[in-house]
Amino acid sequence: MAPSTDQSMPGHHAPVMATEVVEKLLHLPDGTYIDATFGRGGHSRALLSGMSATARLIGIDRDQDAHAAGVLLGQADDRFDIVRGRFSEIKVLAAQIGITAVEGVLMDIGVSSPQLDDPSRGFSFRADGPLDMRMDQSQALSAAEWLNSAERDEIAQVLREHGEERFAGRIATQIVRQRPIATTTELAEIIAAAVPPPKRRTKGQLSTKHPATKSFQAIRIFVNQERSELELGLDAAWSLLSAGGRLGIITFHSLEDRVVKQRFKQLSEPPQLPRRLPVRAIDAQPEGRLVGKAMRAGAKEVSNNPRARSAMFRVIEKLAGSDGG
Ligand SMILES: C[S@@+](CC[C@H](N)C(=O)[O-])C[C@H]1O[C@@H](n2cnc3c(N)ncnc32)[C@H](O)[C@@H]1O
Repeated sequence: MAPSTDQSMPGHHAPVMATEVVEKLLHLPDGTYIDATFGRGGHSRALLSGMSATARLIGIDRDQDAHAAGVLLGQADDRFDIVRGRFSEIKVLAAQIGITAVEGVLMDIGVSSPQLDDPSRGFSFRADGPLDMRMDQSQALSAAEWLNSAERDEIAQVLREHGEERFAGRIATQIVRQRPIATTTELAEIIAAAVPPPKRRTKGQLSTKHPATKSFQAIRIFVNQERSELELGLDAAWSLLSAGGRLGIITFHSLEDRVVKQRFKQLSEPPQLPRRLPVRAIDAQPEGRLVGKAMRAGAKEVSNNPRARSAMFRVIEKLAGSDGG
């Protein structure tokens, strides 16, 4: 069945590769699953449409608006519950509602369209808004608070590490010189002025990317601790899976995909054991097996939803007998 996605809803987020998610993740239609990045529930609705009447789906999101959208879905479908929190805490959040093992977890990493499109959330340089960027509105540190107080070298390091920004040093110097910075457009203008114009060109063509694209991405990743959330969340979700359970992760840029690829590789290879010592067969088994190759969205989906262009979807299954918890 084609997953249902109502594109006419206000604050809509088109779920990426929803058909592939249902096909690869939903191996047991009767099971308990977690959508660890509920957003506006596009993937949750797709999963629910393939699940049996006795199955259970738990949504997690740290965003207050996403949580409110999840409450509505829970009222409409009693197989669904939403919990607010970070997915690095997935085991604790699941235990709070009596769940200690699940058949599958989905993580769709990054920001949602409603977060990006709402200027008051401060994620985008395309509209003027307060420089906020917090996914969890109750978190203390906003982008403005951090940028207005951090050392120049720390800012440069974040732009390099999370944005691969070539002009990180120059941009950081200008940020420190021109602060306090209050809005997204102020920051975008400071960054645009710090980047030398000819370097915005690639192979003689004017770059189509705004010069602030990489810096905004880096600052957002830092403010929301997205890298450590991904690393901790991946391991926590893995330990929550029952034998045969599947973990699927969608990422949108290569730095995040690298984290997922490397960890999935480790989990699907036999552990490194001392050569001359006797080992039990079970200890020499890998904990998991990769489910197919990394998947990308098809051309049709990309033409309907340009966000899908950079999506990478990887799935791993926990092997029976593995004690990877
Ligand atoms: C790309 S969107 C997911 C969209 C969703 N799959 C859908 O179809 O509507 C990512 C969502 O995950 C949430 N999120 C990101 N990192 C999180 C974390 N560490 N813990 C909990 N939620 C997180 C964001 O607030 C956002 O709503």
